[in-house]
Amino acid sequence: MAARQVLRIGNPRLLQVAEPVTSFDTPELEAIIADMFDTMAAHDGAGLAAPQIGVNKRIVIFGLEENPRYPDAETVPTTILINPQLMALDNTIEEDWEGCLSVPDMRGLVPRYRRIRYAGFDQHGVGFQRDVEGFHARVVQHECDHLEGILYPQRIRDMRMFGYESELPGEEEEETP
Ligand code: NI
Repeated sequence: MAARQVLRIGNPRLLQVAEPVTSFDTPELEAIIADMFDTMAAHDGAGLAAPQIGVNKRIVIFGLEENPRYPDAETVPTTILINPQLMALDNTIEEDWEGCLSVPDMRGLVPRYRRIRYAGFDQHGVGFQRDVEGFHARVVQHECDHLEGILYPQRIRDMRMFGYESELPGEEEEETP
C-alpha cells in the first residue's frame, strides 16, 4: 500500500463519470481503499475520491479528526462511502471556502446544501445512511461531485472568490474538503 499521485485539474480522467462498485470484500477493493487513505494522509486531506488517484470507481473516503490544516473545523467521522446516493433535506444553501487536492494551493467559495441525507455501502457491502449538516455535508457533496466528474471550481458562482490561498484575503473559516 502506498500513497499515489493525485491527478490535478486539467487531467481528463477527473472529468469522467465513475463506475459503480459491484464486488465487495475483495482484496482489490481493500487495496484501493488503503491507497486512498495513504494518499489522503500524505496530503493532510479531509477527503478523497477514487478518480483522484486514477481509479474510476464510485468510492470516496473522508474524515477529519484533528487536522493541522483545519484547526477550527468541525470533526467528521472517518468513513468509507461506496456507491453513494445523496439527497438534500431542505433547500438551504450555504457558501463556504473549499479546496481540493486536485486543485493544489487554491481556494474557492462554493455553494452547497446545508443539510443532506447520504446513503451507500462500506467496503464489506453493508449499507448505511446518515443525515448530516454543515462541514460534514459539504465534504460529502464535494467528494461525491468527483464521481460525476465535477471539480469545485465548476460550482463557484463568483469567480472573484477563487484564487491562490496565499493571495486571498484572510478567512476566519477555512473548512476545506
Ligand atoms: Ni476534491
